[in-house]
Amino acid sequence: MDSIRILLLLVAAACFIMGLKLLGRPETARRGNLVSSLGMLCAVLGTALVVWEGHGSFTPILIGILAGAVVGIPTAKKVKMTAMPEMVALFNGFGGIASLLVGWSQLHSMNVSGGVQFLSFFGGISIFLAMLIGGITFTGSLVAFGKLAGHIPTRPILLPNQNLINGAVLLLVLVGAVFFGLHPDQYWIFLIAAVISLGMGITAVIPIGGADMPVVISLLNSYSGLAACAAGLAVQNNLLIITGALVGASGIILTNIMCKAMNRSLANVLFSGFGAVTSGGAGGGGQEKKEAKSKTPEDVYYLLEAANSVVFIPGYGMAVAQAQHAVRELADILMENGTDVKFAIHPVAGRMPGHMNVLLAEANVDYDQLVTMDDINPIIDTIDVAVVIGANDVVNPAARDDPDSPIYGMPIIEADRAKTVLILKRSLGSGFAGIDNPLFYLDNGYMVFGDAKKTLEAIVAEFKED
Ligand code: TAP
Repeated sequence: MDSIRILLLLVAAACFIMGLKLLGRPETARRGNLVSSLGMLCAVLGTALVVWEGHGSFTPILIGILAGAVVGIPTAKKVKMTAMPEMVALFNGFGGIASLLVGWSQLHSMNVSGGVQFLSFFGGISIFLAMLIGGITFTGSLVAFGKLAGHIPTRPILLPNQNLINGAVLLLVLVGAVFFGLHPDQYWIFLIAAVISLGMGITAVIPIGGADMPVVISLLNSYSGLAACAAGLAVQNNLLIITGALVGASGIILTNIMCKAMNRSLANVLFSGFGAVTSGGAGGGGQEKKEAKSKTPEDVYYLLEAANSVVFIPGYGMAVAQAQHAVRELADILMENGTDVKFAIHPVAGRMPGHMNVLLAEANVDYDQLVTMDDINPIIDTIDVAVVIGANDVVNPAARDDPDSPIYGMPIIEADRAKTVLILKRSLGSGFAGIDNPLFYLDNGYMVFGDAKKTLEAIVAEFKED
């Protein structure tokens, strides 16, 4: 029985590693998900064997599975594609609280079976870290959820001397960790630190605003992995250590990619309160604004019909409008017409990493048509028409041109350098960062007002009438 259990857990670990590798490319991502799920099944079976061997009760496991399924299945079925980022934030948070509870219950079980005085220094630190990182991840993710869902203002909220206070509290807690490692019978330290960890999650995420949320989500994802890894060390479960380390490491890699995409260092994101001064105001340099010009779907038809090259630049609004199928249909018509069509994707477009890729893949857009920001920018001045579909911050020229802009320095897809830019959105309103966009007022820029899906369908109808 022992060897079957070890084999199951080994297969589970191998499946998780292979699944992650397969998830790295759109063509193999679906298989990656399946392989990872198979790994999870092996992990559950392996755990069940442990319980069976120890003549333990399956009831708590079954209650857990049932409760998770009752909440999880309807929620996952009901969640809209646009609300996925919030859902991911909640997943991270629940991962965090699970690790906190595992650490806590381990401490109690040590108490029951022989007293915490037998807890080694390393064991005490592991339990403490599972609780600490888990607590920070839980409340930090809830704040991130609130910001993404619009329940909490997305602008940074900074208290006076906040970084200093955060630093001092962190130092205090780390000293507490060492003390607890040496004196694990001092339960009060654990309890106070647990409360502090919950507070730290809030104070760590609340000052981070607007455009920096992608970095925060990836970082919290990494924290949830580290918390699980610490919980694995606390309960001496190799599989939990491996999976926690995988999540922690991949989260850090993603954080690094997001930081590069925003041209920021992690320290700058965490401690600068990006955009705090403008607090979601107009921004954009304060130059005198021109009138925004607009075009109808019929005008757009004539423009696209005559274009040799078109690049679509999708953003969060494409997800809101669910316009991915309509844009694919338009792209197909244009290609039949002999037009060169590309889709340029900014790394932080939408509300979660890979958001646009997932939507376009769902609409069966060919992977070969997808290009990155770095591929398109050097040739964008040769493109006849750039069609911005519900994107705003990721094409805001103020990020490149206006040192006073809160998003100055963030790399953008330079749609303004195309010969003509069409911006499909419902109003002149701002995007996630809450700042104005000079793109709407450029000489070569035209707004096409309305819901992106309806606008695209109207343009397609013009082509079909022809
Ligand atoms: P945003 O800057 O958020 O702009 C989206 C635009 O879509 C809005 O200005 C909105 O304008 C328009 N829109 C909404 N519904 C629409 C509809 N039905 N039809 C047409 N347009 C619609 O989007 P972006 O350019 O993709 O930039 C992403 C932002 O989110 C960045 O600031 C990024 O840092 C942040 N963020 C990203 C992530 C990740 S990981 N990708 C995570 C969290 C935050 P109207 O209201 O006028 O229509």
